[in-house]
Parts: sequence; C-alpha cells; structure tokens
Amino acid sequence: MEKMPYRQEMGLAMVQATIEQVSSSDWRQQLPVLTGRQIRLRELRTSDAASLFAMLTTEEVARFISPPPTTVEGFERFIAWTHRQRTAGSYACFAVTVQGFDTAIGIFQIRELEPGFGTAEWGFAIGSPFWGTGLFQDGAELVLRFAFEMLGVHRLEARCAVKNGRGNGALHKVGAVQEGVLRKAFLKNGEYLDQVLYAIVEDDWRALRSPERLFPMNVH
Ligand SMILES: CC(C)(COP(=O)(O)OP(=O)(O)OC[C@H]1O[C@@H](n2cnc3c(N)ncnc32)[C@H](O)[C@@H]1OP(=O)(O)O)[C@@H](O)C(=O)NCCC(=O)NCCS
Repeated sequence: MEKMPYRQEMGLAMVQATIEQVSSSDWRQQLPVLTGRQIRLRELRTSDAASLFAMLTTEEVARFISPPPTTVEGFERFIAWTHRQRTAGSYACFAVTVQGFDTAIGIFQIRELEPGFGTAEWGFAIGSPFWGTGLFQDGAELVLRFAFEMLGVHRLEARCAVKNGRGNGALHKVGAVQEGVLRKAFLKNGEYLDQVLYAIVEDDWRALRSPERLFPMNVH
C-alpha cells in the first residue's frame, strides 16, 4: 500500500463493531460511518486537510509510504480525488477519528485491483501520537468487514516495505499472510526497497470470525 496515497482481542473487537446499514452500492454515493470500540471511520471532508497534513507528513509516518502531499492545499486536492474515485466505484478512503472527536488523524484506503473489487489492495497511515493505542486494529477490523461484506472482495492484498517494522507487525496482527517478497519494488528517496506482499482471503477471514473462534473471547 505504499504505492497508494491499538490493542484489543480481534474477535471481541469485531463483535462490538458496528457498521451502519448500507446497501452494497450506497458506498459510491457516500461512505458509511464505521464505528468500533474506540474508533470512528467516516468519509473524508475538505476540512480534514489541515489535520491530515499535520499527522501524515511527519518523518516517521511518511518514511515507508508514497510521499504525501506537501501542503494543506495538496491534501485538499487529494481529498477531492478520493471522492471522485469513490464515485467511480474503484476506491474508498476513510478518515480515522477517535470516538468523541471529529479530527481526522489518519486514513484507511482500499482500491480495486480488478474491475468489481474481486481483488483489492488496502493501506493505512495513522498519526504517530496514536500508534500502539489499539486504534489501528480497531479500524482494520472495520475496514476488513467493509471490504469482504460490502465491496465483495475475495482477496485483499497489502504491500509493505521489509524495513517497515510497525507496518509488518500491524499486518500480521490482523491476519494478513505473507506470500512473498517483491524485490526492489518500491522507490523511496532514490532507493529501491524490497516489499513484503501480504494477502487476506475471504475464506480465511470468515474462518477467523467463526462462532467457535469468537465464542470464548466473548465470555465475560
Ligand atoms: C502502520 C500503522 C497504521 C500501524 O499502527 P500502529 O498503531 O503503529 O500499530 P500497532 O501498534 O497496533 O501494531 C504494530 C505492531 O508491530 C509491532 N512492531 C513495532 N515495531 C516493530 C518492528 N520493528 N518489527 C516488528 N514488529 C514491530 C508492534 O509491537 C505491534 O505489535 P503488538 O501490538 O503485538 O505489540 C502505523 O504504524 C503507521 O501509520 N505507520 C506509518 C504509515 C505506514 O507505514 N503504513 C503502512 C504501510 S504498509
């Protein structure tokens, strides 16, 4: 996901998460609001540009991803682009907010790799003050449900620079399976970096969510 622009039990987070009812085609008009334990994912707004600029352009966030816009206006143009791509039905980008606050502190994005979203690729970036807080896992569970239940994805890929420790750790945590290493696949600051190719396939995701797996985690 470099090429595209916090800790809870996985099962418990999924059971407690809610996705507002939308039909499978509604998302092209407006993304649903996805609510987890502590996170709220919503449509991006032009007014998110300033906070996204502050959160996503720091050295530690941008180190292993495609260069983010370098100005607030650049983020405004990016946000307008995300809306056009969503309307076209090929891409969705959620703003990450913490419940009770409306400030965008990161993004989750997903794009189709083939018409109809059978295979797709996802990526994410969150402001570093919110790393290690459980927000990522909370949001990832919601985006996975959105992908497999609403978009009809059967295979969800992610690419992550081998050197990106947090990115790789994050993907492992949510069940992504390493399938290989793409040698020198990502140009960053004049250097070609190796990338790990990950995928989550729908059957594996559904198995992870099976009642037998979830039940023990929900006994209080
Ligand atoms: C990727 C990102 C969204 C993950 O969010 P996060 O809050 O940092 O993720 P988490 O802390 O929940 O999970 C990261 C895991 O990696 C582990 N980790 C950290 N450094 C690591 C390293 N060098 N090697 C291996 N694992 C590492 C963490 O311990 C954690 O696992 P744990 O919760 O079991 O301890 C966030 O780090 C980010 O925005 N990074 C910058 C953008 C980016 O690189 N995006 C990903 C592109 S693939």
